[in-house]
Amino acid sequence: MAQTGLSTLILLVTYLGFVCSSSGETQIARVNEPATFSCNYNIPKKEMANHRIYWQKAGKVVQAYAPGKKVEDLIDLPYVNRTTPIDSSNNLSITILSLQVADEGTYECIVQKLIGGQYQRVHKYDVKLSIRADFSDPSVSVNEEDPSIWRITCSSRNGYPQPNIFWMNNGKELTSFNTTIFQDPATRLYNVDSEVHVNRTTNLSLICLIKYSDFQLSKNITLKNDPGAVSTHQLIIIPTVISFFIFFIAIMCVNRRNCQLCKKQKAGFNSVPQAPTVVAKEEKAEDLVLPLPHVEPTAASDYV
Ligand SMILES: *[C@@H]1O[C@H](CO)[C@@H](O)[C@H](O)[C@H]1NC(C)=O
Ligand SMILES: *[C@@H]1O[C@H](CO)[C@@H](O)[C@H](O)[C@H]1NC(C)=O
Ligand SMILES: *[C@@H]1O[C@H](CO)[C@@H](O)[C@H](O)[C@H]1NC(C)=O
Ligand SMILES: *[C@@H]1O[C@H](CO)[C@@H](O)[C@H](O)[C@H]1NC(C)=O
Ligand SMILES: *[C@@H]1O[C@H](CO)[C@@H](O)[C@H](O)[C@H]1NC(C)=O
Ligand SMILES: *[C@@H]1O[C@H](CO)[C@@H](O)[C@H](O)[C@H]1NC(C)=O
Repeated sequence: MAQTGLSTLILLVTYLGFVCSSSGETQIARVNEPATFSCNYNIPKKEMANHRIYWQKAGKVVQAYAPGKKVEDLIDLPYVNRTTPIDSSNNLSITILSLQVADEGTYECIVQKLIGGQYQRVHKYDVKLSIRADFSDPSVSVNEEDPSIWRITCSSRNGYPQPNIFWMNNGKELTSFNTTIFQDPATRLYNVDSEVHVNRTTNLSLICLIKYSDFQLSKNITLKNDPGAVSTHQLIIIPTVISFFIFFIAIMCVNRRNCQLCKKQKAGFNSVPQAPTVVAKEEKAEDLVLPLPHVEPTAASDYV
């Protein structure tokens, strides 16, 4: 009985020791921003000469302190000039100055103390870092070339981690759409383009939803199926407006010249501004047929 109790105690102590030695925390930080990791351990200043401190990740030394050694000689090349020195007045913390997606992972802080002529580990602390990059506000384009179908594309840029795309139509989730996700090999950030085709038989209230990690972005799209009338949906395309004004000004100039040449015949001036409306509509249709930028057939959505 006593022996069983003793071995249980030993097991418990071993277990607690394991839990303590693998203590740590989790952090989420944004790309291009700094992140500070605490080692959760303080060493009195006069004791520093008896200690060695290592911050490391995946076998590479991120930042270090060892008495009599130059820090630059201890750090691995990818981390040179990317972190601040270990702060002995603040729990042996370090700061990574400008995060990249590649900095995601687990950082270990290891503290060794000189005991009886040998360095022994006295503290270990893990910081798990997750990186986030905010996707750009989704942009939407509508191809109205086909009189029976709207081809609607929703795009967003430079986010992390990998996103999932959802489409809702009047509150119902759509299942048929094509999504292309592209990851930049250098920055590891994602671009996403998703295209859906919808019958032009009714008015539409679509939502394009982009989810990544615990975050999401959405865009509401309302399209009116109002045959006969000029389409006045909310997607204002800047080139349309610009070309409208260019044509308007051009017509005004021509008109003014005509009026100066024949000042006495002022008729027809009021009816002229209708002409550029038609021209601008044609321009818009052309503009919308442009193929999607930056799409690479690297991955297709599960929802196709
Ligand atoms: C780190 O910064 C120093 C001083 O600005 C510079 O001389 C050195 O070349 C840099 N090292 C690396 C690897 O960028
Ligand atoms: C060091 O960490 C401890 C425990 O997390 C905390 O209570 C203390 O405020 C920290 N000290 C400094 C100087 O940040
Ligand atoms: C998806 O892609 C396939 C093959 O390219 C195409 O036939 C289909 O029309 C596309 N569907 C949508 C909703 O874009
Ligand atoms: C669009 O209309 C066609 C023909 O009426 C029909 O077969 C198809 O199921 C419709 N698609 C959707 C998404 O409503
Ligand atoms: C679509 O919206 C327009 C303008 O609000 C309206 O006149 C038309 O009746 C609607 N059509 C349908 C099918 O709901
Ligand atoms: C988008 O649509 C949803 C659902 O219809 C609504 O709850 C939300 O307020 C809308 N957002 C905007 C910006 O209109």
